[in-house]
Amino acid sequence: MQKTLLFLGLLGCICFSTQAQRITNLDSDWRFHFGHAALPEKDFNYSLATIFSKSGGAAQTAIDPKFVDTTWTKINIPHDWAVSLPFVYDPSYEVESHGYKPVGGRFPETSIGWYRKRFTVSPQAGLDRYALQFDGIFRNASVWLNGFYVGTNQSGYVGITYDVTDYIQVDKENVLVVRVDATQYEGWFYEGAGIYRHVWLQQFNSLHVADGDFFVHSKIEGKKATVTLETTVTNKNFSPSDCTVATYITTREGKIIGKSSEQQLYLTTNQQGTVKQKITLNNPLLWDIDNPYLYRAVTVVKQKGKIVDQHKIKFGIRSVAFEGKKGFFLNEKPLKIKGTNNHQDHAGVGSALPDDLQYYRIKLLKEMGSNAYRASHHSPTRELLEACDSLGMLVVDEQRLLNSSAEYLDQFTRLIKRDRNHPSVFLWSIGNEEGWIQKNDFGKRIALTLLAKQRELDPSRTSTYAADMGNEFPGVNEVIPIRGFNYRQYAVADYHKDHPDQPLVGTEMGSTVTTRGIYEKDPVRAYVPDQDITAPWWASKAEDWWRLAAENDYWMGGFVWTGFDYRGEPTPYKWPNINSHFGILDMCGFPKNIYYYYKSWWTDEEVMHISPHWNWPDKVGQPIDVWVNTNADDVELFLNGKSLGKKVMPRNSHLKWSVPYEPGKLEAVGYKKGKRITAQVETTGTPNRVSATPNRVQCQANGTDIIVVNLSIVDAAGREVPVADNRIQFELTGEAKIIGVGNGDPSSHEPDQWVNGTWQRNAFNGKCQVIIQAGTTAGPVQLKATANGLQAATLTLTQTK
Ligand code: GAL
Repeated sequence: MQKTLLFLGLLGCICFSTQAQRITNLDSDWRFHFGHAALPEKDFNYSLATIFSKSGGAAQTAIDPKFVDTTWTKINIPHDWAVSLPFVYDPSYEVESHGYKPVGGRFPETSIGWYRKRFTVSPQAGLDRYALQFDGIFRNASVWLNGFYVGTNQSGYVGITYDVTDYIQVDKENVLVVRVDATQYEGWFYEGAGIYRHVWLQQFNSLHVADGDFFVHSKIEGKKATVTLETTVTNKNFSPSDCTVATYITTREGKIIGKSSEQQLYLTTNQQGTVKQKITLNNPLLWDIDNPYLYRAVTVVKQKGKIVDQHKIKFGIRSVAFEGKKGFFLNEKPLKIKGTNNHQDHAGVGSALPDDLQYYRIKLLKEMGSNAYRASHHSPTRELLEACDSLGMLVVDEQRLLNSSAEYLDQFTRLIKRDRNHPSVFLWSIGNEEGWIQKNDFGKRIALTLLAKQRELDPSRTSTYAADMGNEFPGVNEVIPIRGFNYRQYAVADYHKDHPDQPLVGTEMGSTVTTRGIYEKDPVRAYVPDQDITAPWWASKAEDWWRLAAENDYWMGGFVWTGFDYRGEPTPYKWPNINSHFGILDMCGFPKNIYYYYKSWWTDEEVMHISPHWNWPDKVGQPIDVWVNTNADDVELFLNGKSLGKKVMPRNSHLKWSVPYEPGKLEAVGYKKGKRITAQVETTGTPNRVSATPNRVQCQANGTDIIVVNLSIVDAAGREVPVADNRIQFELTGEAKIIGVGNGDPSSHEPDQWVNGTWQRNAFNGKCQVIIQAGTTAGPVQLKATANGLQAATLTLTQTK
């Protein structure tokens, strides 16, 4: 009964199956072509042909299975066509806020994408139904299989599954066509375009448990946990069917530690029935952020004693509680939320993130001491939640719009049903900054409807709403269980005084704008200093909010806007600035100085960090503001061995010296609980060579693993040259590929993707990044990174089977 995982190398097909269902990955070997939002002839006659007049016929369009697509571009999913388009200046707010990529109503020729994929499927005894699962397409995606219209998903973020049993051909070629219309935006930030999350084919029995219909939640009482396992079975047979449902729980090694009895269900055609079973575990291992232990729960559906479906999920046992005066509790222990908001794009790849990159990013946030992630402002991909479950990161899972129409209630339902088994999800959010309605009765009524839906689908959690409101109550705040504050930290104390029993969290906090490695305002190149000094009028500096949150129990904590820089929302400048400056880490995940502020106060590790760098040949004798971020008790600063004074470190703050510049070595020495900790910056020599650091040297030859290689330009002594901007060119030998490059420069208009046969990127303030994706053959892969006049870096990586 154990779920088996079969990796079938053939045709890049990744399948896994249980005895009673089979899931095949359909990411590889697609064909892509732009359509046109204004000219039907350039849109494969989409609006000329009578597509919706008769079933199964769509001749003369790309929907027709016989259509020849051999000239279309070969691509694999995940695919974001926006990231490889050039940056285009357009003064409109929409284009600016989306990162100056030519996608949206103003760009009809690059806003419709057609995708085609051929696949075959072999029959399997007992698996008589088929469904296509799309995890995320941006956006308004219509799907046809073998010429039959299957459905349209408006959402650019919430996935959808379509039953295609009546249109599939077994043992024959199937033609899947998707038309993606990205002319409309959903957000005000870079959203990507295309099929940017996985596509799967499900094969299952007519009597089955649909994705999201096995819900596991638990209650801890003393040393026991009662786990409730709710299985909803659907009968798609054309006759009534009897079945039994039984569930069990295993450790992560697969040892069964609790079982339910078998329960009978009788279901007529199209009927659904739910079985609720309880299993009690003694002394369970609790899931928490330091030890995110995941149990497995399995539900087994049998008909006449034979398994017809079974599902296995990972889940965690943990309790969450929110308290007006005391904040948040995880497993009954107080926990301050040290969170970040994030959009989903990364350097090089846009919103088409390989799964590994989700883990890479979450690990970076964990290393900083962050324990919570708000998926702003839409549902994240499944793999992000899996990363958070297994690495120990709490998640606020957010609905895109505060709207209770059938469309949005359905999106909310799909979001909750997909994500409610993830222990990392500790709070739902029903929306963000709905300025038209959040203070009035519309907002309140919609919120009540969404909250009722949330409780119906997931009584084990509660919800917040991210309000850009001060001490204001009427509207959504009247009914929301957890008050969310976007900025306006100055109003939190008053609000708490007026509503002491309503727990509150900083849903968006801080928001210092910084450019990594820059120390002077530069309105021409659109850079801001890399220190905690510049915040937009609506936001605050890191120290202004964190001190309040850290020092008051009624503050549950909060989420910084943002963990990573993201494309779009250039602030405070516009073009040539194409991505945001809000991140604690830049687009590549390189830390900015503010990272060390948060790390100092968000971890117990010893942190000592000096900024700026010490390469100022034009400033000899001039005063330089030196910042030290540390959690030491006190710090003494030395320039070339000479003391510049010792200072006591105020909690949740930083230290500053004004130092007349002279080249050499600046060193900070401090003591934390009697232990000496130091940091130094040195004047470096000129660029001498390229240095490459991979996040790992070995990966699996599975076609999906990635290796992130961070590069530095270093001097002869191996010190990173903090102002170096040399162009680095990449050559890869072996069966793997580069999928993107980046450097964290918010004003760079260099391509993130392959152009004119050369993968290359300028370093920005000493650094750049290249992302390599595994091939499917085991063997060595070599990356050579060269820069004119410098010694190249050569890296040998291994792909194993
Ligand atoms: C908030 C908003 C975010 C982002 C941020 C920029 O008001 O919720 O999505 O736009 O401002 O400062």
